[in-house]
Amino acid sequence: MSVRTAVVLAPLTSLGVGGPARFFVEAASADDVRDASVFAREHGLSLRVLGAGTNVLVPDAGIEAVVVKLTGDAYRFETSGDGSLRLIAEGGASWDALVDAAAARGLWGIENLAGIPGSAGGALVQNIGAYGSELSSVFRYAEVLDTATGAKKRVGPEEAMFGYRTSVFKRRPELVIMRIALALGEEANPILAYPDLAHAQEAHIPLGTPREIAEAVRVIRSRKFPSGGEDGRSAGSFFKNPAVAPAVAARLAERYPGLPAYSLEDGTVKLSLAWLLDHVLGLAGLARGPVRLFERQPLVIVASLGARAEDVEALAHEVEKRVLGALGLVIEREVESFR
Ligand code: EPU
Repeated sequence: MSVRTAVVLAPLTSLGVGGPARFFVEAASADDVRDASVFAREHGLSLRVLGAGTNVLVPDAGIEAVVVKLTGDAYRFETSGDGSLRLIAEGGASWDALVDAAAARGLWGIENLAGIPGSAGGALVQNIGAYGSELSSVFRYAEVLDTATGAKKRVGPEEAMFGYRTSVFKRRPELVIMRIALALGEEANPILAYPDLAHAQEAHIPLGTPREIAEAVRVIRSRKFPSGGEDGRSAGSFFKNPAVAPAVAARLAERYPGLPAYSLEDGTVKLSLAWLLDHVLGLAGLARGPVRLFERQPLVIVASLGARAEDVEALAHEVEKRVLGALGLVIEREVESFR
């Protein structure tokens, strides 16, 4: 195991801000991760896993921790005992490469999740979701290293405790995801009800294969998210959509006709924060120095050249305060503050 010190994390994240990690280790195997966790314990520091860095905000002062980056990016397809097809990928694999590989084989299940930057492990931690699909619906198991005990184990769907942008892996960061297994299907199963895809269908855009759907989703996403080039860098949605009690949703829907709302399985109602920020608070495009809410999708905080983590924090804080003040809603961040 080679340990580096004072490695600046900004270039390893999609937001491109933040200071150094006290120690930094690249890990190719569970044994490497175990060694890194022993090293962390010996130094009285916590261990933090950095995936593709697409959903984190690193503070400007950096972090006093051992940061581990998983380098294993291999994946394979296999037929399981019951004849179903599995995609097995290492935690460090690129999520979008998996979507491409599945689509190239005509396999169904993750095509609506095309174009999401990040690693396979990060995708699972977050239970990524988009355009009517969620990763939890194809999840079979994860092989994890429990750094608290040093033991490897399998976590199945029950134990994974998925919710909207959450999982057991988010609550228990000591479980490092080394490998994920997804169940994919050979039979056509297009999920096209999400408004953007329904519009694509009305416009006669071909949506008959996983590859075509993945392509359509990428086109939709390219209109909604900054490119990472001149329009600035981001970590996708910075905030979660708030899930509220039905009575609260009803009151807001009455006050703001047209507010998009979706009932969740747990009985709460998910409200569209982008819509509220745009149509009620008029905050789309709100700029504070080198950071702003993206004009076409105000859940996204965009950092331009020269931005610092403190600029992102200040804007996020202002949005949180204004949403609370005007709507009485406490909003949560989707992006994780690395500390
Ligand atoms: N809207 C506006 N103004 C805007 C943008 C959107 O009024 O400027 C309205 C749209 O018209 C639509 C509603 O807001 O009625 C929802 O917008 P969108 O379809 O873009 O979805 P979202 O709820 O804002 C979520 C996820 C995204 C995911 C999209 C598509 C969260 C926090 N975000 O955004 O995920 O790609 O749905 O399924 O749940 C991410 O998690 O990082 C992420 C990008």
